[in-house]
Amino acid sequence: MTKSILIVAAERGLGLGLAEQFFKRGWSVVGTARQDADITDLLSIGASDPDRLAVARIDVTKADEISPFLASLSDRRFDVIYLNAGIFGPVHQSVLEATDEDFAEIMLTNTFGPIRLARYLMNKLVTPGGTLAFMSSHRGSIEINVEAGLELYRASKVSLNMLARGIYADYKQQGLTVLSIHPGWARTAMGTLDGAVEPEIELETSVQGVADVVERHMATGENLYLDYEGTRLPW
Ligand SMILES: NC(=O)c1ccc[n+]([C@@H]2O[C@H](COP(=O)([O-])OP(=O)(O)OC[C@H]3O[C@@H](n4cnc5c(N)ncnc54)[C@H](OP(=O)(O)O)[C@@H]3O)[C@@H](O)[C@H]2O)c1
Repeated sequence: MTKSILIVAAERGLGLGLAEQFFKRGWSVVGTARQDADITDLLSIGASDPDRLAVARIDVTKADEISPFLASLSDRRFDVIYLNAGIFGPVHQSVLEATDEDFAEIMLTNTFGPIRLARYLMNKLVTPGGTLAFMSSHRGSIEINVEAGLELYRASKVSLNMLARGIYADYKQQGLTVLSIHPGWARTAMGTLDGAVEPEIELETSVQGVADVVERHMATGENLYLDYEGTRLPW
């Protein structure tokens, strides 16, 4: 049977790459974009089989968009729901320099927004065997981060990991799988800081690895923190 995935934030960057990757692997894909975002690239992925590619609209920071978004999915059920939306925040990344608004924005976009939406989406997952995946980062690991810096981004991703684990605790009896995935330092607008720095890996390497990780660990009933090569990361 055709497997299905909902990717939240899929019109550029890693989300777009993942939409293409899963589509190529024969999955049915619903990708989301914000209301005014250009969805040309996302739609073009589905050109060879438009029935397997659909677009929905949601900004994860906007509570009033949740109901219409859920309604637009009608009675669809997904094997995997992948929460990918995220921002880097101010380049300085410093707690001392950040305003209250800077911190609120990164936490709302990277943590509260995706987690809240995931909780609203629980009944859009297949049961049993549904899988929630979150685009985390190795920057969200407490144990492996011994150097300073990236304070705002780290705070948002460690919180994302924690609250994702909370969803798992609430639903593991029903067989939910929750994956927090580090995609590698990959070539995207965020990964290059809009062209200012060289990343470690190409986008294609990242999304192929992430899709492999999802296919390998989906529906296992586990809660795992993994990188794009399938290596387990310490929380
Ligand atoms: N690239 C890396 O090296 C790297 C490493 C570790 C983790 N990550 C994570 O991977 C995810 C994707 O990042 P990327 O590298 O692909 O960055 P990107 O090219 O900047 O793309 C970010 C995506 O998030 C969406 N987004 C931002 N704010 C949103 C909101 N309020 N509501 C809905 N969507 C929103 C963007 O949509 P718009 O086009 O509308 O802005 C875009 O689709 C992020 O969660 C990031 O933290 C990336």
